[in-house]
Amino acid sequence: MQTQTPRYTGAAKLFHWLTALSVMTAIVLGFAMVDASPGPGQNKLYDLHRSFGALILLLTGLRLLWRLYAPPPKVPGLPAWQEKAALYLHRLLYVVLFAMPLLGWAGTSAFPATIMVFGLFELPPIVGPDRELSKLLLGIHWRLAFVLCAMILGHIGAALYHHFILKDETLKRMLP
Ligand code: HEM
Ligand code: HEM
Repeated sequence: MQTQTPRYTGAAKLFHWLTALSVMTAIVLGFAMVDASPGPGQNKLYDLHRSFGALILLLTGLRLLWRLYAPPPKVPGLPAWQEKAALYLHRLLYVVLFAMPLLGWAGTSAFPATIMVFGLFELPPIVGPDRELSKLLLGIHWRLAFVLCAMILGHIGAALYHHFILKDETLKRMLP
C-alpha cells in the first residue's frame, strides 16, 4: 500500500528556497567583499551583502510566523531520535539565521556605516558609534559565518543521505 507523506506547504517551500539562495549569496558576497580592493566596486559588494543580510532577517521572521500557523509535516516511520535531532538542529539553524544579520547590523551601526537595502531605504542604527564594539561584533559575525557554513554542509549532507541512502521522503517534502 502506498502511504502519502505530507509535504511542506507551498509558502514554507518558497521561504526555504529563497532563504537558501539568499544565504549562499550573502556568504559568497561576504568573503568576496573583504578580499576586494578598496573602491566603489568594494562598496557595492558591501551594500549588496548587507541588503541580502537584511532580506534574510525579514524572510526568517516571516517564515517562523508561518511555521507557527503551519507546523512542519512529519516523515512517517522516522525514528524518534532522528526527529528530535532534526528539530533541535533546525532550531539552531534558525538561531544562527537571526544572529548573523543582527550581528552584522549592530556591528555596522557601531562602525558607524549606513545600511542601504537594495538602494531602496536605509536601516536605522541599532547601537551608537563605538569602534571597539564594532570590531568585537563583526569578529563574532566572521566566526559565526564559518559555523553557519559547516551547519549548511551538514544540512545538505543529511538531506542527500535521506534521499539517496535511506531513500525516504525527507527531501521530496521540501521540493517544489
Ligand atoms: C545571514 C546573513 C549574513 C551572512 C551569512 C553573512 C556572512 C558574512 C561573511 C561570510 C562575511 C565575511 C567574513 C570575513 O571574511 O571577514 C561577512 C562580513 C561582513 N558582514 Fe555579513 N553576513 C550576513 C548578514 C550581514 C548583515 C545584515 C550586515 C549588515 C547590515 C552584515 C555586515 C557585514 C560586514 C560589515 C562584514 C565585514 C566584516 C569585516 O570587515 O571584517 N552582514 N558576513
Ligand atoms: C543556505 C542553505 C540552507 C538553509 C539556511 C536551510 C535551512 C533550513 C531550515 C531552517 C529548515 C527547517 C525547516 C522547518 O522545518 O522549519 C530546513 C529544512 C530542510 N532543508 Fe534546508 N536549508 C538550506 C539548504 C538546503 C539544501 C541545499 C537542501 C537540499 C539539498 C535542503 C533540504 C532541506 C530539507 C529536505 C528540509 C526538511 C527537513 C525535515 O523536515 O526534516 N536545504 N532547511
